[in-house]
Amino acid sequence: MCGIVAYLGKKPAQPILIEGLKRLEYRGYDSAGVGLINPDKIGIKIIKSSGRISVLEGLLPEANPKEVLGIGHTRWATHGEPNTINAHPHLDYTGKIAVVHNGIIENYSTLKTWLISKGCKFASETDTEVIANLIGYLYSGQDGKKTPNGDQNKFEWAVQRALNELVGTYGLAIICTDFPDMLIGAKKGSPLILGLGENEFIIASDAAAIVEHTTQAIYLADNEMVTISSKGFHTKTIDNVEIRKELKQIEFSLDAIELNGFAHYMLKEICEQPKALNMCLGGRLDARDGRVVLGGISKYWREITRAKRIIINACGTAWHAGLVGEYLFEQLARINTETQYASEFRYRNPIIEDDTIVIAISQSGETADTLAAVEQAKERGATTLGIVNVVGSTIARTTDTGVYLRVGPEIGVASTKAFTAQVAVLAMLAIELGRRRHLSSDEAKFYIEELAKIPAKIEKILTKSEQIKKIAEATCDRENWLFLGRGFNYPVALEGALKLKEISYIHAEGLPAAEMKHGPIALITEGMPAVFIATMCSQYSKIIGNIEEVRARGGRTIVVASEGDENIKQYADFLITVPDAPEELQPMLTVVPLQILAYHAAVLRGHDVDKPRNLAKSVTVE
Ligand code: G6P
Repeated sequence: MCGIVAYLGKKPAQPILIEGLKRLEYRGYDSAGVGLINPDKIGIKIIKSSGRISVLEGLLPEANPKEVLGIGHTRWATHGEPNTINAHPHLDYTGKIAVVHNGIIENYSTLKTWLISKGCKFASETDTEVIANLIGYLYSGQDGKKTPNGDQNKFEWAVQRALNELVGTYGLAIICTDFPDMLIGAKKGSPLILGLGENEFIIASDAAAIVEHTTQAIYLADNEMVTISSKGFHTKTIDNVEIRKELKQIEFSLDAIELNGFAHYMLKEICEQPKALNMCLGGRLDARDGRVVLGGISKYWREITRAKRIIINACGTAWHAGLVGEYLFEQLARINTETQYASEFRYRNPIIEDDTIVIAISQSGETADTLAAVEQAKERGATTLGIVNVVGSTIARTTDTGVYLRVGPEIGVASTKAFTAQVAVLAMLAIELGRRRHLSSDEAKFYIEELAKIPAKIEKILTKSEQIKKIAEATCDRENWLFLGRGFNYPVALEGALKLKEISYIHAEGLPAAEMKHGPIALITEGMPAVFIATMCSQYSKIIGNIEEVRARGGRTIVVASEGDENIKQYADFLITVPDAPEELQPMLTVVPLQILAYHAAVLRGHDVDKPRNLAKSVTVE
């Protein structure tokens, strides 16, 4: 959701900004733009458009080697429709200041009214233009305060004063015509990273736009800003207190964010799951002693073990993983667990006692609702634990303790490898917590050994892609689908339906199979696809009953079943088998054919799998 790239160096900025913006395309956007300082004319050249970056590229003149400072943005509309005027960068009313912004300014309306009363003109409907105009107004000295104290430059001074007036969230990159060798970045609630290259600096909202140039980076924290010139940079709080920031190494390589011959990132990430899970489990399973070793949370095991209740918070796919976690903690660790939508939890009045652990699950570590849920839980005294993929992300830093997924960058908007790894981490937590409470060493060993076999079993499922494609060919013309599962595979039904909706735009509903009788059964018409997860499990015979109910009404069944189950064949119009596993661990297997099915359905329907309409990879606004 929204992306920022800004550059100051020796090379022409324009192509670097465009390449960087392309690296951020996966986050979701509806318009894009760049702003460049032209040292000859001492002005800011702004080019922007609605639609894809390729449209923007078509509007760009040849890169000017003298234009070595610029800011770029991909916008995902919040205030105002996704048109060219509302796209970033936004210029202030004096034409001197240009701003790109991620986040939401909550008091923009009050500020806008006030700025209009002072004579500022507005062209767009965005909250971002308020930032540009506020900086421009304070910079102009119209408010009577013309100079900063000491040797602080006037541009930085004006930015700081403006930031102190903003309520809401921002990641910002700002330039000013009077300072053709200066770039300012600032952060509050929206990520911003400074990449330090050789004689060049890149600011971006996501490391993916930086790694091509450097792996040395500084991660700004909330209420911090950086002022960069070709000679160097300094970091301060927005209250003008100098701060020293630690240099960090960006952990992933360019290779990890390339397609490497795959048609789409989603497909690449589906296929990467065996490797990703091996990275996630690697070094953490001790089958000999029946223990799980999770270094990050070692100091918190006392609190976790004595907990009486776990609340899991997440959104989207991560919420589905959380629901699997709920079943896992109940089953293996015998602990009361509930999974909540972070967007609901944050506005409820949750009862959090001393012995409540709140787990937040988030691939990006930046989802606004999940972060707010963590903050709410912390305020009420809970111990918080993050299950996050992106290292150093806000949720990873805000939670008391946590476990990283270690699956490398996930670029496809429809989450795949993060889901299987989230379930794997939850399974590890549940086994170790169970071990510390009541699970015997033999039971723990059994689950650990079975967990270690999951990656190879996924590898086997991946070989069925062509068979699953044929199923998609036969069914993807239908506009309404059901996904049904029970027990541990109920969350998988929800996830299968979500995958199909997200990328193929087919309406799909995921349900616990028994709930079908309480309404959705009325939807079943001749030929309607119903996907069942009917692997060997404690509720096998029950789900067979549900399959029969659908078939009796003319529905067409696509059944995910256990290898070797001969009985199931008679119930399936289309059958996909997966290797057997204990039912607690099955979700990591049964989800894979559903990911592949959704992928093929979307491609067959002609959709851009990696850029689904209206969706964003990381939802950093409410
Ligand atoms: C968006 C993405 C989903 C993701 C959800 C939660 O909706 O499109 O794929 O599951 O956000 O994201 P998170 O980064 O918190 O896991």
